[in-house]
Amino acid sequence: MFDEFKTSIATQLAVLTGAPVKDIVDAIEIPRSNAHGDLAVTIPRLRIKGNPVQMAKDWAEAFKVDEVITNAVSTGPYINFRINRQVLTRKVLSDIHKTQDKYGWTNEGAGKRVIVEFSSPNIAKPFHAGHLRSTIIGNLIYNLYKANGWDAISMNYLGDWGKQYGLLAVGFERFGNEEKLVADPILHLFEVYVAISAAAKEDDSLNDRARAYFKSMEDGDEAALALWKRFRDLSIAKYKDTYARLNIKFDVYSGESQVGEAMTRAMTMLEECGLITESEGAKLLNLEKYKLGVTPVKKSDGTTLYLTRDIGAAIERFEKYDFDKIIYVVSSQQDMHMKQFLKAIDLIGLPYANRFQHVNYGLVRGMSTRRGTVVFLDDMLRESKEIMHNVMRENEKKYEQVTDPEHTADVLGISAIIVQDMLAKRIKDYDFDWKRILSFEGDTGPYIQYTHTRLCSIERRAQGTVKVNPDADVSLLTEKHAYEIVTLLAQYPDVLANTLRSLEPCTIIHYMLELSRAVSSAIEQMRVLGAPEDVAEARLLMYWSARAVLKNALTIIGLEPLTCM
Ligand code: ARG
Repeated sequence: MFDEFKTSIATQLAVLTGAPVKDIVDAIEIPRSNAHGDLAVTIPRLRIKGNPVQMAKDWAEAFKVDEVITNAVSTGPYINFRINRQVLTRKVLSDIHKTQDKYGWTNEGAGKRVIVEFSSPNIAKPFHAGHLRSTIIGNLIYNLYKANGWDAISMNYLGDWGKQYGLLAVGFERFGNEEKLVADPILHLFEVYVAISAAAKEDDSLNDRARAYFKSMEDGDEAALALWKRFRDLSIAKYKDTYARLNIKFDVYSGESQVGEAMTRAMTMLEECGLITESEGAKLLNLEKYKLGVTPVKKSDGTTLYLTRDIGAAIERFEKYDFDKIIYVVSSQQDMHMKQFLKAIDLIGLPYANRFQHVNYGLVRGMSTRRGTVVFLDDMLRESKEIMHNVMRENEKKYEQVTDPEHTADVLGISAIIVQDMLAKRIKDYDFDWKRILSFEGDTGPYIQYTHTRLCSIERRAQGTVKVNPDADVSLLTEKHAYEIVTLLAQYPDVLANTLRSLEPCTIIHYMLELSRAVSSAIEQMRVLGAPEDVAEARLLMYWSARAVLKNALTIIGLEPLTCM
């Protein structure tokens, strides 16, 4: 959005300094505070011999201002420029009006395919905070790719295979209850799993039975597979409901169980590369040379392991989807596993090995609900909704006006969880804190939603008196608050691009918070109703644009934008 201004500055400076236009454009920044200028060049970044302070002074004095760049002054090694704010404002607001919900989106990914693998919980085990992080970070990444024109595929790689599913089957005979299974498969399978694991500690023969059962699953025994498939299908059906609450839909439910024949090919390739050693009938992948240890890839009974399955799945995914890129959103606790996996596919010479990317994230400490520290996603969402609902009820008058309080509370609770999760760099661990995240003030999800609803209410109240007019006279937006909003709106396309580049959710979250703060201060000072008609129209166009961008951003991070609360 600032391109026109940057080029204008750079073209003149190139003549004065001898530096290439492109280098100068790259050295132009939007200062954090615009007290000294709207755009600034840091002279040392141009790498020109001489005293930067003196050079800045000389070039600022020589710079000829015009209609677009209206002022140039130096401060220390910087040159600060004033731009024609009206030109920027007109351009930004009309752009947003034209593109609306797609403002900032690009077609950069056209013709390219990306798979984003995320969430990937384990059947019969708790959906813990780590899975929640993968789920919401992964969904953001998926949405971002789509917004940039990629053919994006969301994939859930379930933990649905291994000896523990043999144990689960054995456990179901003893502890299973058909009604409970149908009512809440995720919870019931977990209960069965906990009970049978405890029993197996006392009675080791149960472990032998579990191993035998799993072996029959691997050998394709139909009866064994039928029961397992039922557990899987019921769990997926239940997960789908919960994901829907988070506005998430998986294009593919894959899973460890789905990996097939490619594992045999992978094993042969690993052996041919001399990476396999044998020990007591088991096969080990030796990556010691790369400081990645020695890991089993085949047990002595011939069954496969987590790592084997990931390598096999990589090959099958490529053969099936022919992707240009694949992203694995997996906890940093599995960094070692992911490194071994990526090394292995590289060493066996898969020509597409460089299309794989691991996106990791840190731990969440202290996430618990009243039911205890074993947390299911459902519990989490229910609890945040309840707490939110209580907060809403405290303001009786407002509460009466909310059309669907249940749903609003649900969305607010989810907003709180998601925004807190995305507030810091992915890799950082954080402490879960209900109190902090549910506040309507500060850096929270409810605060952003609240700002969105305020913008919606400005539009609602203007209806009938003022219209959203793309040709409104924006020269009437003279307040500094207006310029703050406009600069932020102008930066949104860059924010999306930067978030996609770094895959750091905090980039877009900090932007949303900053925009929300700018909107909050403008609302106090710049009223629509009661202002002269032409001023009201210009202001409404500005608020309408801010609302469109906030809605756009909320949707990308996976939240339903609330229109009232
Ligand atoms: N199911 C695994 C877990 O819960 C996560 C799977 C991650 N994805 C992968 N391709 N390994 O730990």
